[in-house]
This record gives sequence, structure tokens and C-alpha cells, in this order.
Amino acid sequence: MDSIRITGGNELHGVIPISGAKNAALPLMIAALLTDETLTLSNVPRLRDVAQLSHILSNHGVDYAVNGKRNGQHALAGQTISLTAREIVDTTAPYELVSKMRASFWVIGPMVARMHEARVSLPGGCAIGTRPVDFFIEGLTALGAEIEIEGGYVVVRAPGGLKGARVEFPKVSVGATHTIMMAATLADGETEIVNAAREPEVVDLAKCLRAMGAQIEGEGTSVIRIQGVKRLHGAHHAVLPDRIETGTYAMAVAMTGGDVLLQGARGDLLDTALETLRQTGAQITETAEGIKVYRNGNGIQPVDVTTEPFPGFPTDLQAQFMALMTMAGGSSRITETIFENRFMHVQELARLGAQIHVDGHTATVDGVSTLRGAPVMATDLRASVSLVIAGLAAKGETTVSRVYHLDRGFERLEDKLTHCGANIQRISA
Ligand code: UD1
Repeated sequence: MDSIRITGGNELHGVIPISGAKNAALPLMIAALLTDETLTLSNVPRLRDVAQLSHILSNHGVDYAVNGKRNGQHALAGQTISLTAREIVDTTAPYELVSKMRASFWVIGPMVARMHEARVSLPGGCAIGTRPVDFFIEGLTALGAEIEIEGGYVVVRAPGGLKGARVEFPKVSVGATHTIMMAATLADGETEIVNAAREPEVVDLAKCLRAMGAQIEGEGTSVIRIQGVKRLHGAHHAVLPDRIETGTYAMAVAMTGGDVLLQGARGDLLDTALETLRQTGAQITETAEGIKVYRNGNGIQPVDVTTEPFPGFPTDLQAQFMALMTMAGGSSRITETIFENRFMHVQELARLGAQIHVDGHTATVDGVSTLRGAPVMATDLRASVSLVIAGLAAKGETTVSRVYHLDRGFERLEDKLTHCGANIQRISA
């Protein structure tokens, strides 16, 4: 398996183009199941998760085409893909495919909405704690579906079609909001989703669904209302920029020092994280081209954070922020409230010399003046990239193995960082 070798200590200077958001691209691709016409998505990142999902969708009969790709094209720009689910040939999403990526479970919503049945394997994905599917089951049941769990599969039937209803989630869930919103677009009558996720990716999906003919209002607030329609049609939609990639590179610059323009990034997608970074001493300015991040020789100030649903500090930036805090001039407390067990990067950061103590959901990080390079192992997507950030700032050589996870979520990571002066290479096994 490939690994990444970093010789740390270089500041980052230059421009990093921000890709389309993985977490928006995935539900948008799944939305193609709702119509027999073509959904064209632009600014789609070239990522392993996107490729994996295209494979899963093909299995259901979705015709998948990458437009405008030329031989030898040096592609920092996102790809444009067309998805056509003219006919859904198989309503089963098998274990072998779904277990590789949790988000593929979300096909259950559109499939039962359009085909009135679906059989989807219980999911896998990043090993960041138990990630149940009870909200999906309760939500679809409220929309009139009958659900059974058979041999590791969720089997859903709605013989007369789904019926609009009130669905209240006990806790904010991005995936359950995406899924019930998609399902409700073709239900009979009105659906009200209460305690809906307000994440920008939910807003992006709602915009795309509306372009496909859905009647949705309230996205970006805690209550989303969907008036079901008989059918949806094709549309063109551009994926919004990746706020997690943006925050990750911003944290890298805040840690190594330097001056980088995150091209195409949108500050309004990550206000809380940017404000937190400002408190650490980084200077952040928003321009028409993107977000500029700058830190000169000043030290890193310790700042406490607690992860929360949007618009709070995102759990997907927690590991990266912890990497930054390992070199702060004092102690900080990082509390994870979204996922249990999302501190797997702690032990690996400790291998670089970080001083971190975990007590339940809170990690106390005592900043050190120097990290030293070491071999480390990536355990999940965001944890892997936190090790890359720490490696960029550490003295000497860090090797991050199992970079499989990075390829799931970060497009051309080594290229982007190399262009800004980092000493980072991929070593093919
Ligand atoms: C999405 C993101 C992931 C991010 C997470 C939280 C994608 C592809 N993934 O994951 O990167 O870290 O949002 O921002 O967009 N829960 C239940 N029952 C359910 C569903 C969820 O208890 O049926 C719980 C989860 O265990 C977790 C919390 O709800 O504690 C939030 O999870 P959720 O928002 O659903 O995460 P994902 O949509 O899987």
C-alpha cells in the first residue's frame, strides 16, 4: 500500500486550489437515482469515494459518463460527470459495495421513493465509532415504508409509494437529512423534517433537487419542508467548494507558518473554524479569489474547541486542529461531541512527540515546542490528514502509511502541498 513521506520544517507559500466538496458530491450523485433523465454535476473532485460511488450506482443501472476529459489533461479543475438512471435494474445495494463507504447507504431514500422498494446492506465506512442507521429507519417508516432487517440488509417496501409526514430527528444527522429529503421529493404530500442538519452540503443538495423540479424550502435551517411531486427531471449543478479541505490547508499553514491563498474557498462555509484559527494567531482574510491564510514567526496560541453540528466547529476538522494545538504555547482542550472514538489520531500524534491526554470525550493537549518525524499510521480519513499536517511541521522525516484513507477524501494532496513548498512525496508500494 502507498505511503507518504514528508520532510518537515518548510513554510507553505503559494496558491492551493480548493476542490469540490466530497460530502456534497456523494449525495448529489445519489440524487441521480430520483429521475430517468440526466443529472450533470460539475466541479466533482477526483476521489476514491467518488469512483467507488459511481461503481455502486452503475450496479443499480446508472449510466455514468465523465465529460470533457482529455488524454493527459492536467486536472486541478474538477471533473464534470453525467449520471442517467433511465432504468433502475437492481434495487439491491450489496454488502461488498456498501461496506466500503457508509454514504452509499443513502441510496435507500431515492430508491424506495422511485421504485417503492430497496434492499440495502447495513453500512461500513470510517471506523469512528458506532454509526447506527436508526434515524433512517424511523424516518422512512414515518413516510409509510415497511422495513425489515434480513441477513445484514435493510429491506424497505412502500407498495403504494411514500407518503409525506413529519419526521423529527432526535439528534442532528447529515446523512439522515439527505436521505429523508431525497425520499420526500417523490412522496405524496408534504414532509416536514424537524431538527434537520443545517450543513452547507444539505443546502447544496436541496438546491440541486430544486433544479430537478423538487419543491423544497427551509434548507439551511432546522426545519425543511418538502412538497412531493410526481416526477423529477434532469439538471445541471456545480458542487460547492470543500470546506473541510479548506480548513485542513488553513490549519496546515497556521502550523507551518507561511502565506497561502486557498483559491475558490468560501469563508461563509466555515466561519467558526476560521474564527478559531484567528484566535490561534493566524491571519485570515477573505478575498474575491478565496481565503488568504498567513502566519509569521509568532507562536501558536492555545484555543479550546468543542465539535458541534453546523454552524459549530466541524468534527471533520477536529483531528487537524488537534495537530495544530500540539505545538501551541500552552494547553488546550478539545471535546468531541459528534462521534465517540474519534481520537484515534492521538496515539499517532504522540509518536511525533505530542503530549495529549484523553479523558472520555475530551483531549487535553499540552503544546510542545518541537515535534519530531516518525513513522505513523493513518486510521481514518481526517486522522490521516492530521498526521500529514503534523509531519509538515515536525523536524525530520515522517512516513504516513495506509494513505488509502487520504485518497478517499483529499484530491491531489501531495501536488497541492508540493506547489506551496512542502517536501512531500508518495511512495508507491
Ligand atoms: C457526515 C459526513 C461526515 C461527518 C458527519 C458529521 C458525509 C459523506 N459524511 O456523516 O464526514 O463527520 O456527517 O458532520 O457527508 N446517528 C445515529 N443514528 C443514525 C444516524 C446518525 O445515532 O441513524 C448519529 C451518529 O452516530 C453520529 C451523529 O448521529 O453520532 C451524526 O452523524 P451523521 O451526521 O449522520 O454523520 P454522517 O452523515 O454519517
